[in-house]
Amino acid sequence: MRLAAASDHAGFPLKNHLAAWLRARGHEVLDLGTHSAESADYPDFAHELARRIAAGEVERGLLVCGTGIGISIAANRHPGVRAARCLSEYDARMARAHNDANVLALGERVTGAGLAEAILETFLATPFEGGRHARRVQKIER
Ligand code: RB5
Repeated sequence: MRLAAASDHAGFPLKNHLAAWLRARGHEVLDLGTHSAESADYPDFAHELARRIAAGEVERGLLVCGTGIGISIAANRHPGVRAARCLSEYDARMARAHNDANVLALGERVTGAGLAEAILETFLATPFEGGRHARRVQKIER
């Protein structure tokens, strides 16, 4: 799968860890930054990644900030972007199966690397169920 990954400074180590984790599993990852631990504004990275998703340049996105909250709020301002901040594998499964989420948002300060890997794996492996959920997702976009 072709993905983009981005974070602010608070999500920088986890974003790098997960980008390497994805590449080791054969995925193509476009790293949109940040590229250092220097303080950076999460909306800048959320908007850059959201633009790539909305343009169809990448299939899925991974966003990481301190909590996953601010970066997901910013990404969700873009039509066609459905970013889900997930704290569990159940969140990730539902975000895909029912909401057709195309961006996973994680919080480095709340989710450890091992759980983050499991959440990401579930997010990538779970298909959208469609049916009544497709009607509801269409209503989000209207
Ligand atoms: C940065 O300190 C922090 O506010 C940011 O990473 C994020 O958690 C915002 O929602």
